Amino acid sequence: GKGAAMVTAVAYRLADQSRQIAKILSEFRLTTEQLLEVKKRMTTEIENGLSKSTQDTATVKMLPTFVRRTPDGSENGDFLALDLGGTNFRVLMVKIRSGKKRSVEMHNKIYAIPLEVMQGTGEELFDHIVHCISDFLDYMGMKNARLPLGFTFSFPCRQTSLDAGILVTWTKGFKATDCEGEDVVGLLREAIKRREEFDLDVVAVVNDTVGTMMTCAYEEPTCEIGLIAGTGSNACYMEEMKNIETVEGDEGRMCVNMEWGAFGDNGCLDDFRTEYDNMVDELSLNPGKQRYEKMISGMYLGEIVRNILIDMTKKGFLFRGQISETLKTRGIFETKFLSQIESDRLALLQVRSILQHLGLDSTCDDSIIVKEVCGTVSRRAAQLCGAGMAAVVDKIRENRGLDHLDITVGVDGTLYKLHPHFSRDMHQTVKELAPKCTVNFLLSEDGSGKGAALITAVGCRLREELNS
Ligand code: GLC
Repeated sequence: GKGAAMVTAVAYRLADQSRQIAKILSEFRLTTEQLLEVKKRMTTEIENGLSKSTQDTATVKMLPTFVRRTPDGSENGDFLALDLGGTNFRVLMVKIRSGKKRSVEMHNKIYAIPLEVMQGTGEELFDHIVHCISDFLDYMGMKNARLPLGFTFSFPCRQTSLDAGILVTWTKGFKATDCEGEDVVGLLREAIKRREEFDLDVVAVVNDTVGTMMTCAYEEPTCEIGLIAGTGSNACYMEEMKNIETVEGDEGRMCVNMEWGAFGDNGCLDDFRTEYDNMVDELSLNPGKQRYEKMISGMYLGEIVRNILIDMTKKGFLFRGQISETLKTRGIFETKFLSQIESDRLALLQVRSILQHLGLDSTCDDSIIVKEVCGTVSRRAAQLCGAGMAAVVDKIRENRGLDHLDITVGVDGTLYKLHPHFSRDMHQTVKELAPKCTVNFLLSEDGSGKGAALITAVGCRLREELNS
């Protein structure tokens, strides 16, 4: 009768809906062949960044860092470190002791950087940074000590020495004016002078990947790669000097800051990008830039999810077809929410309560779909990141003419640390795509600050050697 027909109609509509949902999500599911292709393209871009003839137009810039070796335990002294560019801005005091009982002691304070400072003028940004240093020195009771300082500045910088770095372009959430094309160490020194309150000796500018690698290498000498999977994503590793055509000299190795977030900016990932990736890119502060980063890092995963949810809601598959103000708000799905939603121990009811908390009124069916969307997007992120890492470890293996490479990657970043599956999926992908390498991942605790201090220690010693 009529009832049966209605039931059939509803069943048909539901089946059709789940087919369409599956279709949307299928674009995010990459096969091993596709991931191998990503790895191969990353290898090509690495070569482009290293070679003299292609480096000007290369998207993966492979920036020299002037860090020539990992720590050996002889580093010693008291240092200040700044950490700018991750989830938090921090000022740190790091005491490193060498010898038999080597140790590192750290004190730090977190400071907020208001959005209007991140996106205001360069002068305001650097004045704010120096204001925070001043507060920290007061807090530590150290206003009069002229300490050497290491500046972890987690953006692409073209370095000509350890203590000079020209900002190529802002990435992530920063957009302060008059900084691109400038030496950020110079900008910091000028801001310190303007304040006329204390003197500091800026010794090194350091990318967070490099700080992370150095911190892990301090404990584990096989660590020669640094990886950040956090707000942004990037990697560095020890490359042979003879392969770095942008720096004089062929002896030994130097750490290269890959700036792999820009992978794909020449269109080479377009066949893997979805319409949702395009939307996230177009709505971002830097359209067309950092396309790989926008598929794999914490600042953007929630945005991909949000754009999929909007589309599904428009199609009537979610939230009773109602697009709420919340859903229209950029940045609502922070890494910590994605991590909570995907937690295995969480009952669906709790997923609903998280969504409720975000101002999203969901049914039980909604919460199932949302959880699946989150899982699919973050799994792709982990796999794409793993494909990039597979290219790096195989490159190092080939550099060294080895059939098999054992290596350690120092890792940091909120996505890697907080997300319930990201690390596992990434490790798995590296294993699958680089079978000739045994890759050990080491979590770095407080990598950027400690690493900056270790690099500063080496920088100070080199300077003393030059002066004597
Ligand atoms: C962005 C920056 C890069 C940094 C990474 C992780 O990709 O450009 O320098 O290492 O974020 O913080």
